[in-house]
Amino acid sequence: MSKGVSHYIEQAKVAAAKRMAHRKTVKSWKFDTIAVHGMYSLEEAINTTCGSIAEPIFTSTSQAFRDSDEMEAGLSYQIPAWAYSRIHNPTIFYLEETLALLETYGSDLDATGLCTSSGMSAIKQAIEPLVAQIGNKPVNFVTSTQVYGGTFQLFSVRMPERGVEPRWVKEPGNLDAWEEQIDENTRFLYAEMPSNPQQSCIDIEKVAELAHKHNIPLVLDTTISTPALLRPLTNGADIVVHSLTKTIGSSGSSLGGAIVARHNITAHYLDEDQKKDYALWLKLLPFRDSGPCMTPYSAYFFLTEIKTLRTKMAQYSRNMEKVVEFLNNHPKVEKVDYLGLQDHPLHGVAKKYMRLADSDENLYGHLCSFIVNGSVEDTRRFFDNLKIIARATDLGRVKSIATIPSISTHQQQGEEGREMAGIPPNMVRLCVGGEDPTDIINDLDQALKA
Ligand SMILES: Cc1ncc(COP(=O)(O)O)c(C=O)c1O
Repeated sequence: MSKGVSHYIEQAKVAAAKRMAHRKTVKSWKFDTIAVHGMYSLEEAINTTCGSIAEPIFTSTSQAFRDSDEMEAGLSYQIPAWAYSRIHNPTIFYLEETLALLETYGSDLDATGLCTSSGMSAIKQAIEPLVAQIGNKPVNFVTSTQVYGGTFQLFSVRMPERGVEPRWVKEPGNLDAWEEQIDENTRFLYAEMPSNPQQSCIDIEKVAELAHKHNIPLVLDTTISTPALLRPLTNGADIVVHSLTKTIGSSGSSLGGAIVARHNITAHYLDEDQKKDYALWLKLLPFRDSGPCMTPYSAYFFLTEIKTLRTKMAQYSRNMEKVVEFLNNHPKVEKVDYLGLQDHPLHGVAKKYMRLADSDENLYGHLCSFIVNGSVEDTRRFFDNLKIIARATDLGRVKSIATIPSISTHQQQGEEGREMAGIPPNMVRLCVGGEDPTDIINDLDQALKA
């Protein structure tokens, strides 16, 4: 005799209550403990995954159901299910939960995570429903000019192609510059913190307050700072996006992205259902229909990496401080931009927000940029002489990496776009990793002498 769909719904309610109780316990743990264990408990390991200490990689594309009732309940979203990996997968879910818990760490907020195939797909998926056409009204959004080159292209080329207008803020530190651009058709505000490569910063609380005054969400890309240094949802932002490819996956062997949205985001043009749990709604509907999901192999890689996130961010940032001190005193370096420098115009705002989790230590991350004295050719000669530091269009790696943004990450946005974003042709972006900083300093020194 059939058990009935309701049987599975009742069973799922019991499981959900148990899960929520465990989640409450996990939420009370310290940052590192959450990063290491997330929601994968010892009990789950012993009872369901042969005692595997590491989160297993669930490679199956789909789930077998006990009977047609369970299948119906699962596929109609009446019970949580792993029905099909494009939507849900246990390994990816462990990562999504860890990210949501870390992004809300130190607060009573609740959030949901959604992992994607890359950082760009996280940004695109996060904003798609926000710019959806409603009737014949024009649609715009307001964004800092100081964003990653790929994001700049998405905003400046792809969005206008479909009638969505990006409105640019050249001075994201100036609140009036944001407010001037907002009208009744503005759907969201967007910034990176800090930005790549200029390290611009915003006063999150104030910009979030401004967004909420207009009943729209604030979306922030915190790829470079990670939740170990900055958790914008706890300062009022609605949605955080990440390229996990970068700092969180610092060994550098997988592409991935993530969206973490607080529950009950502010957006006057969305339905209550959409706002209540935006990331879950995205996952179950628009995301399912587009299919930019992460692979379980990548999720396993990121889960392994995220366990030591706080320690790595502390190490890379402290190493960077030493390298910056060296560069700042070098006669062949014209200017160094690093948020940790007391005389950086945005040091104050960065100091307000960027702090190593579970400590009082202000840290400013692994990324700086600097201008080499002389011509563009001199810059390229210095760059070509680096022996340890890799020339690559990448950042946040355990191995130090340098790039010239105007010929790489920000090449496509053209001279005018680079000028708007403040990227001169002789700017070098440097990301310091886990090597001993003395060796990195020696490498920079010999290349600067060359
Ligand atoms: C700040 C930032 N956001 C997003 C991205 C895009 O990420 P992905 O390369 O994973 O698509 C990058 C890539 O460098 C980035 O630096």
